Amino acid sequence: MTKVDIKQAQSGIFSDLGKHQWYVHLSRNSASANLDKVKTEISNLVSACESKNINLVVGFGPDLLKDLGAETPDDFQPFTTIKSIDDSGKEAAATQEDLLFWLHSDSKDDIWKAQYDARTALASEMSVARETMAFIYGASLDMTGFIDGTGNPAPEDQPAVAMIPEGEPAAGGSFILAQRWVHDLEGWNKMSVPDQEKAFGRTKADSVELETQEPYSHLSHVAQADQNHSIARRSTPYAFHDGTVGLYFMAFCKSQSPFVEMLNAMYGTDGQVRDKITDFSDPVSGAFYFSPSVSQLSEILGG
Ligand code: HEM
Repeated sequence: MTKVDIKQAQSGIFSDLGKHQWYVHLSRNSASANLDKVKTEISNLVSACESKNINLVVGFGPDLLKDLGAETPDDFQPFTTIKSIDDSGKEAAATQEDLLFWLHSDSKDDIWKAQYDARTALASEMSVARETMAFIYGASLDMTGFIDGTGNPAPEDQPAVAMIPEGEPAAGGSFILAQRWVHDLEGWNKMSVPDQEKAFGRTKADSVELETQEPYSHLSHVAQADQNHSIARRSTPYAFHDGTVGLYFMAFCKSQSPFVEMLNAMYGTDGQVRDKITDFSDPVSGAFYFSPSVSQLSEILGG
């Protein structure tokens, strides 16, 4: 039985999702970015979030984590593009950045201010590469109208799934997969509900698993065999002013391999037929981060 201490998880990972989410991805302006300044401004963000009860997750990309001199988890790799091997041209794009701030709270104004102050203070060293504001839609729905999260491990099991066990390098931390998926909602809504249900492998109204799974169903690609092949998902929908909509996929795991296995299955690079949902949605960003335990984060930041 692996041992984890949930108190070591950064506040945003397992807490109830706030109504509003803000994802900010930053990369260093140059190789000589001042890392002391970076640490100071992350510390200030941590304090600002604590004072406003904002749930925060700070995630480091592989290069920045190494350059900060932190103990790194085993085999931490950057995200690389995953291309389908059929003739669809479908792929999961890689946009690996250095740093991720994920803030969530019921108060959009508070999270706006906290992330604004942090990115402004960091501007001399790091630039915002991408940002997404997301929200909770109804009963945790994805914009396709399906409930997202039913197959998540039970809350009491999530720490064992998502945190590196005690005794291992970087114990208490979690790997993160962050991807912005863009939905073709118009195309999706032209499909009949039974066909949509076959695509996910669950019913639309109440998320019941279908007895017969089509080889192309989402569930046929991401079924979680056991705790070592499971992930804890915290995804939410987003909508941009230009009409772009989709799912901000956010998940935590104690190792990177389940993410890679699931994505390879979805894109058919492991020999399976491609996941049907990749006909209706494309990830336009993709990055892996590591969220250190509370103690390791404080060590990294010099606290
Ligand atoms: C457009 C992107 C995606 C959408 C709209 C989506 C939506 C869904 C929905 C509706 C379900 C069924 C209900 C549930 O269990 O939550 C589901 C299950 C699941 N998805 Fe996704 N998903 C997406 C991408 C991904 C990706 C990229 C991964 C992994 C890398 C993933 C992993 C899972 C897992 C592990 C389950 C639970 C399977 C089980 O029942 O054991 N999903 N997803």
